[in-house]
Amino acid sequence: MEIESVIVTGANKGIGLEFVRQLVKLNKPPKYVFATYRSETSVQALKKIKDETERTEVLLIKMDIRILNDIEDARKAVEDKVGDKGLNLLINNAGVLKHEGFPEITEENLLFHFTTNTIGPVMVLKKMLPLLQKAATHKTIGMSVSRAAVINLSSTLGCISTVMDEIFKEFLVVMGYRVSKVALNMAMRIAACTIQDQGILVVNMCPGWVKTDMGTDRAFIEVSESVSAMMKTLPELNRTHHGSYLDRNGKVIPF
Ligand SMILES: NC(=O)c1ccc[n+]([C@@H]2O[C@H](COP(=O)([O-])OP(=O)(O)OC[C@H]3O[C@@H](n4cnc5c(N)ncnc54)[C@H](OP(=O)(O)O)[C@@H]3O)[C@@H](O)[C@H]2O)c1
Repeated sequence: MEIESVIVTGANKGIGLEFVRQLVKLNKPPKYVFATYRSETSVQALKKIKDETERTEVLLIKMDIRILNDIEDARKAVEDKVGDKGLNLLINNAGVLKHEGFPEITEENLLFHFTTNTIGPVMVLKKMLPLLQKAATHKTIGMSVSRAAVINLSSTLGCISTVMDEIFKEFLVVMGYRVSKVALNMAMRIAACTIQDQGILVVNMCPGWVKTDMGTDRAFIEVSESVSAMMKTLPELNRTHHGSYLDRNGKVIPF
């Protein structure tokens, strides 16, 4: 996998931070990793990676994915660096989760998830699209993360067909989150279908249940294990995966 430029949203902690950590350690690391965060008080770990990394320029960008001006500023910051080469990979990772089931669910809870987990990634993709298109024109065949791609961090909790399964029953209490990830899957499948002739690969991927602030200590896997698996899957992705919904190992998840 040879990716020249990558942007990771929500990169100050959890899965996003681990993506940055593992990307800069690749045998052939990216020239640029754009790592986004929201609060200056949360960037210590990212700054450490930036200071310790020699082969990659790690650029920290402040961006709340709910704020269009932030996304536009981020686009400009990326464009200033990558120029005509464009952006190879967007990892739409930022997300939120707050427990609330039915019928306690509030409009506020539903909107909170929809705004961040669905609208945010779509708006980030929309703004970054011209940069992805530029990158895609530099290689004329195939689809790959080295050419131009969008990986959206989705979740098996966004799978409608398994909602009734016994093992998923305890997750009925994250209704807003689940609805927002179903909507993300649909939005990105529509985007994939619409831009399928442009050489930009779009894939939704579940990282597994991961020990992060969101996943909690009850989760099954460590963040390093989850991201290693996804990093192993990324170079395998091609046209046949376009618009798909996969687990971290590349196995198809039913919608
Ligand atoms: N952990 C799991 O078990 C699991 C399972 C399936 C899917 N996922 C998905 O994986 C992704 C990463 O999850 P995680 O476990 O790493 O969660 P996490 O540790 O809670 O980290 C979430 C990241 O998203 C950022 N974020 C939240 N709202 C944002 C906004 N409006 N604008 C920009 N950034 C924002 C957070 O920034 P702040 O620090 O500023 O809040 C943080 O950097 C999410 O999309 C999640 O749905 C996780």
